[in-house]
Amino acid sequence: MITVHITRGEAVHGASHIDVFTYDGDMTITVADYLTLLNRDKALRTDVNGKLRPPVIWDCGCLEGKCGACAMVINGVPRLACRSFLDKVGRRGSITIRPLSKFPLICDLSVSKDKMFETLKKRQIWTEKAVISEDTETRNLIYKSGQCLECGCCLEVCPNFKGIFDGRGDNAFPGPIYAVETYRADRTSDDDYHRHKLHILYNDLFYENCDNSMGCKAVCPAKIPHDELQARLNSKKRV
Ligand code: SF4
Ligand code: SF4
Ligand code: FES
Repeated sequence: MITVHITRGEAVHGASHIDVFTYDGDMTITVADYLTLLNRDKALRTDVNGKLRPPVIWDCGCLEGKCGACAMVINGVPRLACRSFLDKVGRRGSITIRPLSKFPLICDLSVSKDKMFETLKKRQIWTEKAVISEDTETRNLIYKSGQCLECGCCLEVCPNFKGIFDGRGDNAFPGPIYAVETYRADRTSDDDYHRHKLHILYNDLFYENCDNSMGCKAVCPAKIPHDELQARLNSKKRV
């Protein structure tokens, strides 16, 4: 049997609390499966004090590790709930689950990632007319950067990312996802002026403020090579 500690709360009310449940069912399921069962089954949703708790609000999409919607902090590490198996994350007899802390909370485990998308859009991190690199390794890295799930796990662990929403507005450190998206936009854009602007922003906002601790790479569920992408962006050569 395991105990599951879930941090709950609504943004409008400000305060949060932890509900504690026990579970002694199939341990080969994922945290996403467990949350689905929990919300369906009143017996599971009765807490250790015998009180029936309301269904847990959380986000999911694909349930296949492809959309990034179910990112949450499980045992202190940001992960995808649909790729976190109870027999691994619960092997010590308990699991803690809380929402990502660097996004505005909506409710329970659900957060709003709107500002992250708005920021990428505002800084023109996209490609209008694409060119195809002649270099195989560059194409490979462009492909890998395109695997980003926009889940936000890297932002959660980055010590220098305080949130795009922390009042520093346009000058805030935009976090590791920014470098991933910049690499892809820069290496596929056929517009010199656009690329020039991407470089200035990258140098001002990212390069000056990243300390290369690589927590971003360690937690990335898409296994994006943050170190390689950042090294290439930092290089004078356009590789
Ligand atoms: S780089 Fe990795 S951790 Fe960061 S948002 Fe993309 S998939 Fe998630
Ligand atoms: S390497 Fe840079 S972007 Fe990645 S976690 Fe460290 S400070 Fe953040
Ligand atoms: S629900 Fe899509 S990645 Fe988990």
